[in-house]
Amino acid sequence: MKILKINSSVQSADKSVTRQLVSKLISSICSTNDEIIDRDLTKGVSLITGELIGAFYTLPEDRTDVQNELLKESNRLINEVKESDVIVMGIPIYNFSVPGSVKAYIDLISRTGVTFSYNDMGQVTGLLEDKKVYIIVASGGTAFKSEADFVSDYMKHMFSFWGITDVHFIDVTQQMTGENILEKANETIANYSIEYTNMT
Ligand SMILES: Cc1cc2nc3c(=O)[nH]c(=O)nc-3n(C[C@H](O)[C@H](O)[C@H](O)COP(=O)(O)O)c2cc1C
Repeated sequence: MKILKINSSVQSADKSVTRQLVSKLISSICSTNDEIIDRDLTKGVSLITGELIGAFYTLPEDRTDVQNELLKESNRLINEVKESDVIVMGIPIYNFSVPGSVKAYIDLISRTGVTFSYNDMGQVTGLLEDKKVYIIVASGGTAFKSEADFVSDYMKHMFSFWGITDVHFIDVTQQMTGENILEKANETIANYSIEYTNMT
């Protein structure tokens, strides 16, 4: 099994709840033969440009060398998603939405004819193979699935837009309330671990 590990917290592993839980979830579901692709979005994701969008919309056979070069990052990120069986993603809520690096990542993954397509009737088809996705969402006060949570429905929508619908959330929101938020998240992760043990 190949697991794509995606982190987006600007905090280091010793301080970040999402980084710690991403690692915990991965170690509880993976076995020694599994391969982990480590994609830390805080280490750099390019913002889209007019030239890049031009390359997206140019047929492969008509692309210039410059356009092919521009497409390399997007191709690499899409290939990582394609080749993985499971995606584990950590997303802290920043200003009620996803961190900028996650938005930049989404902009590089969303490519017509590659990850989604529209037909003449305007209907969308996701072009990626379905796979299991776990998203760990953390916040200080914003409640998961509340009106001010512009992360969970958005991420669910984006994965479904690409054809991936088996998406599970681990709720680590409202840590300021002092309730046993982390304990509950750890329990959820332990249950996923049992699911995987039963599968193998
Ligand atoms: C720049 C920034 C913006 C934040 N915005 C929000 C927010 O809108 N709502 C909220 O409840 N918490 C917000 N927080 C708190 C984080 O979501 C919370 O601390 C979370 O645990 C961070 O994830 P991490 O521990 O993996 O770094 C913000 C934190 C930072 C650094």
